[in-house]
Amino acid sequence: VVRVNVAQPVADIQPTMWGVFFEDINFGADGGIYAELVKNRSFEFFKPLMGWTVRGKKRTEGDILVQNRSEAGSTQTSSNPRYIRVTANGANSGDLEMINEGFRGMGLKNGLRYDFALMYRVQSGNVKIHADLINAQGQPIGSGTLLPEKSDGQWHKQQVSFKSAATEPKGKLNVWFEGTGVVDLDMISLFPEDTWKGRPGGMRADMIQMLADMKPGFVRFPGGCIVEGHDLTQRYQWKKTLGAPEDRQLVINRWNFEFGHRPAPDYFQTFGLGFLEYFQLCEDIGAEPLPILNCGMACQFNTAELVPMDQLDPYVQDAIDLIEFANADVNTKWGKVRADLGHPKPFNLKMMGVGNENWGPQYIERLAVFQKAIKANYPNFRLVCSSGTDPDGERFDFLNGKLRAMNADLIDEHYYRRPEWFLQNVKRYDTYPRNGAKIFAGEWAAQSDKTVSINNKNNWLCALNEAAFMTGLERNAAVVQMASYAPLFANADAWQWTPDLIWVDNLRVYGTPNYFVQKLYSLHKGTHVLSMTQNNEALAGQDSLYASAAWDKATSEIILKVANVSDKAQVRQIQLDGTKKLDANGKLFLLKNDNLNAVNSFENATNVSPVEQAIAVDVKKKNVTMTLGPKSFSVVRIKATM
Ligand code: AHR
Repeated sequence: VVRVNVAQPVADIQPTMWGVFFEDINFGADGGIYAELVKNRSFEFFKPLMGWTVRGKKRTEGDILVQNRSEAGSTQTSSNPRYIRVTANGANSGDLEMINEGFRGMGLKNGLRYDFALMYRVQSGNVKIHADLINAQGQPIGSGTLLPEKSDGQWHKQQVSFKSAATEPKGKLNVWFEGTGVVDLDMISLFPEDTWKGRPGGMRADMIQMLADMKPGFVRFPGGCIVEGHDLTQRYQWKKTLGAPEDRQLVINRWNFEFGHRPAPDYFQTFGLGFLEYFQLCEDIGAEPLPILNCGMACQFNTAELVPMDQLDPYVQDAIDLIEFANADVNTKWGKVRADLGHPKPFNLKMMGVGNENWGPQYIERLAVFQKAIKANYPNFRLVCSSGTDPDGERFDFLNGKLRAMNADLIDEHYYRRPEWFLQNVKRYDTYPRNGAKIFAGEWAAQSDKTVSINNKNNWLCALNEAAFMTGLERNAAVVQMASYAPLFANADAWQWTPDLIWVDNLRVYGTPNYFVQKLYSLHKGTHVLSMTQNNEALAGQDSLYASAAWDKATSEIILKVANVSDKAQVRQIQLDGTKKLDANGKLFLLKNDNLNAVNSFENATNVSPVEQAIAVDVKKKNVTMTLGPKSFSVVRIKATM
C-alpha cells in the first residue's frame, strides 16, 4: 500500500514550478519563432549577400550592388550600415532579380496572405519592384508589385500584400525589377498573415501555441550561451533589441560556430524578436518573465573573456535599467521607453538571472557587485545565480558554497546527463537545506548518447526517466522552485544541439515524448506537495517506481504521478488519507510505450503522447488502485473534499 497524506501538505508548489527555457539555438528565434521569412533582410550578414542569389539577363546594363552607409570616411554610424543599390535599364521579367532562400526554404501556405515590405530610396527613374513567391521548382505561386510612392531621395517604407496559391515547404522569394532607374533598398521582408495573435511582424503561431498549451510558469530568455557570446562584443545586450527593426543591430549568433555540434555559418541574431517581444510573449501566455543578463564574462567554454572589475558598471546598469524598463511607471526614463514602444502597462518583473553557466572566483566577484547594486534599489527582487555546468563536480561545490554564503535567492543548476543519471539523482534535493537559497533547475535533459553528441535522440527512455526524476523535483518543491528542460526548439533542417523539446520544419511542428512529460507536469502542477510513501519512505526507485503527489487548492483535487520504469506491470493501491469525501470518477492521463527507443516525428507526431482515461475511486475505502503498465508514466486527478 502506498499512502498519501492529503490532510497535511508538506510544502507549497510555486506557480513558477514548471517553465520553459528559450534560446536562439537550433534556429529557435531567427528561422524559428520569429516569423520573418527572409534571411539576411538587411544585408548585414558576414557576407552581405548571404542567402540571396542575384541573377538576370541584363546584369551588364543594370545591377544590384551592396552599399555601405559608413564607408569611405563617412562620419555617419549606423546599426544597419548596408543596403543595396538596384540599377535597372529597361529591365523586365528575368532581366534582374534576386532570390532569397529563406531559412532553409520558406514555408508557404495556400490561400494565406503574405506581407512583402521594404525600405526604399529612389535615386532616379521609375523602377517597379515585383515580389514572387516561388515553389521548389521555381514556379511563381503568388506575386505582388510595389511601385515606390515617393521619389524625394529619402528613405521610406512601403508594403504590398498578396496570397499564395499553393502550399510549399521549401519556397523562396524572387524580388525582380522592371523599368529604368536607380533605387536603394533595405530591410526586404516577408511575413505571413497568420502570426501569433495576428501581430504584424510577429511570431510563428504554431510554435507559440505549443508553449501556450503547456501553460508554463515562466519563460527564461534569451538563453543560454547566447547571453554570454563567444566574446563580449557578441554578448546579448537587451537595449539594442528595442525599437524599429531596422535600428536593431544584428550580431553573429554564438551557435554560428563549431562547438562539437553542427555550426550554421548563416546564423545571426537580427533581434527582430527582442526584449519587448519576449516580455509580451510572457504576458500573452501567463508566464513569469525570467531574463538572463551577461555578468561581465563571455562564454567560458571558449574565450573566457572578462570585463575588468573597474569597467563592470555598464553591465550592472543594464540590469538596473531592465527592472525600470519592465516595472517602472511612464515618468521614469526606462518606463517611458516601454510606454513609447506601445506598452505603458508594467510587466511586473520579479526576478532576473545574472550570468549563464559562469563559474570561478571571477564570477562570484562580479555577481557580488550586481547583487549589491540591485538589492540596494530593489530589496525584494530575486536574483538567479549560476552554478556552472557540472552538478557533480568540485566546481559546483565551490560555487554552491559561495552562493549560499552570499545569500543567493535562486541557484541555477544545469545537467545534461545520461538517462540513468536521472534515476540515480531522484533524491538529489532530499538533502538540500530547506532554508536559504532555492533551486532553479534551469537546463537539463537526458542524453540518449552523451552530452554534446549529435546522436542524442528524444526517445521514450529519456522522457520516461525525466518523468521519474521530476517526481523528485516535485517532492522537493520546498527547495526547487523552478525547472525547465533545454533546449526548447530545434529546426529539423538547421539544428546545432540535440535533444530538444519541440521540433519544427517550415510548416510543421511536433512535440517530443519529453514535451508531453513536461506538459503533463505543467498542466497538473497543483499548489501543495503531499507526502506519498510506501513503508514510510518516499517512492523513489523501489520496484522501479517513482512517485509524487500534490494537492490542487484551486480545483480541490489530489494529483498523483507515478513512473514505472520497469518492464513489468505493477499494481499499487493508493490510500488517500485525511479526506472527507472523494469523487468516484477520477481521471487518468497515461503516457506509455513498449519501446524505449520510440520517438515522435512530423509524420507520427503523437506516437508517444498521453491518453485520457477514467479511473475508478473506491470512495468508501478512500483509495484508488493504479495498474502501472511497464514503461509508463501515469497522472491521476481525483476530486476531494477536505
Ligand atoms: O541548451 C544549450 C546550451 O547548453 C545552453 O546555451 C547553455 O547554457 C548550455 O551549455
